[in-house]
Amino acid sequence: MTAKKIKALSPTVFKKLKKSAFAVRKKAYAPYSGFQVGAAILTQDDQIVSGCNVENASYGGTICAERGAVLKAVSNGAKMPLKAVYVVSSSAKAWPPCGLCLQVLSEFCLSTTLVTISNKEGQEKMYRFSDLLPESFDPQFLKS
Ligand code: THU
Repeated sequence: MTAKKIKALSPTVFKKLKKSAFAVRKKAYAPYSGFQVGAAILTQDDQIVSGCNVENASYGGTICAERGAVLKAVSNGAKMPLKAVYVVSSSAKAWPPCGLCLQVLSEFCLSTTLVTISNKEGQEKMYRFSDLLPESFDPQFLKS
């Protein structure tokens, strides 16, 4: 994560990102918690990749929506760093990415990457990545 500036997203791209997160949330496999989460990430070359939470009977094997999207993007050869992340949960409150997801995202986000979280009604809160994880352990620490 570097301090490189990113341009603001165009309203059209933002709308597509949101649509993708809401659409993938419907595919969530969440028989244990009952909460569906959808995440959509915007890659450096403007690809939108989405992921939903996939729960597991072991509970600990559950993969969150955000990490699902990142794994898919990397497997697809997506261009990083991410320009934006959009997360929607089926909850009355917008959920920020959990600590584990923030750590995974920090590998591929800039401090300025736009992170939008939304509740089930579409009420949003917007952050820059560094608002959510100001002192992230990112690849730069392995260089010194
Ligand atoms: N969940 C996510 O998908 N993303 C988060 O950042 C928080 C939690 C999922 C995991 C589990 O399936 C359900 O929400 C309840 O924790």
